[in-house]
Amino acid sequence: MSEQKRCGIIGLGRYIPTKVLTNKELEKMVDTTDEWIVTRTGIKERRIARSDEATSDMAAEAARAALKDANLTANDIDLIIVATITPDMFFPATACLVQDKLGCRTVPAFDISVACSGFIYGIAIADQFIRSGTYKHALVIAAEKLSSVTDWSDRSTCVLFGDGAGAAVLGPVKDGGILSVSLGANGKQGDLIKLPAGGSRIPPTVKSIEDKLHFIKMNGSELFKHAVRIMADAALGATQQLGLKADDIKLVIPHQANIRILKAVAKRMGLTEDKIYLNIEKYGNMSAASSAVALVEAVQEGRIKKGDKLLLDAFGGGLTWGAMVIEWSR
Ligand code: ACO
Repeated sequence: MSEQKRCGIIGLGRYIPTKVLTNKELEKMVDTTDEWIVTRTGIKERRIARSDEATSDMAAEAARAALKDANLTANDIDLIIVATITPDMFFPATACLVQDKLGCRTVPAFDISVACSGFIYGIAIADQFIRSGTYKHALVIAAEKLSSVTDWSDRSTCVLFGDGAGAAVLGPVKDGGILSVSLGANGKQGDLIKLPAGGSRIPPTVKSIEDKLHFIKMNGSELFKHAVRIMADAALGATQQLGLKADDIKLVIPHQANIRILKAVAKRMGLTEDKIYLNIEKYGNMSAASSAVALVEAVQEGRIKKGDKLLLDAFGGGLTWGAMVIEWSR
């Protein structure tokens, strides 16, 4: 019997828009303070994409950087997955637009919509195709332009979100790679964070626009309660499959929703806070792109070395969640 193939991350890249929106600037837009935002969320500033910059533009930039890092070209890619809740449009899929921008072959390309868990779901899907030998190299891109669906007059949401993109090239590896995956969803909690209009339930009308139904609506405090338990349980799901203890994990790369959520998750998992990678203060919550960009930056900062076990952990709208253990193989 042939040995089971292993799949790992062999290239990483990110794209961060240049425009910075600080808490001080938000103070002039809504009734808030820098102090409130920093204390309640850990966010100091976030990035905002240009008006002529769509999700596929950011996704393509991140993908180019990841291809370069992997020493591959667009021609080497066999599968493209884009995780986003802010696609350029309903269809074609943002992944198809990225395929064209990069000049890839006519390989399969599709989007997944699982909000902040999208990067982990995307890697989990690509992992199956690569381990089975169906495809050799996959691009998994998480990209969001949340500024385009944010109500800039709603202080309870507009201080939280930002724009950006992260990308990973996945391919066969000799050692390590993706060791375990734990995914889940609970549609009963879908109302906690959603973008109500624009789809078949509430197609765009003058009224839907006047009612601001094309913006993110969120029950923040209720989400907070679920987030800690969900992220800790997802993490346990991924580590227990391997019989790993908290100490065996070098670094947790979590979805960056709120620093208080992440500190509570660390406590629940029995981890010291220094084992949780944080960049929320610079970018806020970029939904699917958050954990992707965090992974890119953790690697660039030398926080992850060959042989280290890291844990990706996220929850998001749906509700959805996902965690995976990766042994770094580069
Ligand atoms: N500035 C000042 N005051 C504010 C602001 C603000 N920006 N926003 C809310 N407040 C006020 C509220 O009006 C409320 O005032 P009141 O007591 O007079 O009614 C008070 O602050 C407390 O509000 P809470 O909502 O209870 O504040 P909380 O401590 O829960 O923090 C927050 C709010 C930051 C949103 C938190 O609940 C949170 O992070 N929740 C999780 C959100 C999340 O993870 N979302 C992403 C999901 S992932 C995805 O799918 C994109």
